[in-house]
Amino acid sequence: MNGKVHELLNQQINKEFYSAYLYLDFSNYFKAKGLDGFANWYMIQAQEERDHAMLFYTYLQNENMPVTLDAIAKPDKVFDSHMAVLEAGLEHEKYVTSLINDIYSAAYDVKDFRTMQFLDWFVKEQGEEETNANDLISKMELFGSDPKSLYMLNQELAGRIYSAPSLVL
Ligand code: FEO
Repeated sequence: MNGKVHELLNQQINKEFYSAYLYLDFSNYFKAKGLDGFANWYMIQAQEERDHAMLFYTYLQNENMPVTLDAIAKPDKVFDSHMAVLEAGLEHEKYVTSLINDIYSAAYDVKDFRTMQFLDWFVKEQGEEETNANDLISKMELFGSDPKSLYMLNQELAGRIYSAPSLVL
């Protein structure tokens, strides 16, 4: 495997675990505010991010490439509103999309077709992640300022259930 592609894939393990950490922090924020449905939504988001990390980890192992685990950064944002959390989530997903695109670009440059095929799932997944984050912001804009509506939105988000990733390595 090309050195640059390997380095970026290895870094992505850390970025995905950081994403899980970040969403756990979001979940913790909403739990403290008494919004258990929002907390559940981000808890499941964190589980999905751990799955993403493990996919990169397993892919490198399957390719007989070394895996180096790095320290996970501290999520250190302090939020002054519910909406600020949701917006930070969307910004983060856009950032992750740019990371996936960078790896894809590096793989494309060296004709690493297997890595490109592996990343195809993530390209699609990032589209869904950004849509989900956008949808949540739209719902919050519509319903967030009215306590009864916020209660119902919270109930809706309580219904999100975990499902394992469709990509199996
Ligand atoms: Fe692993 Fe939310 O991207």
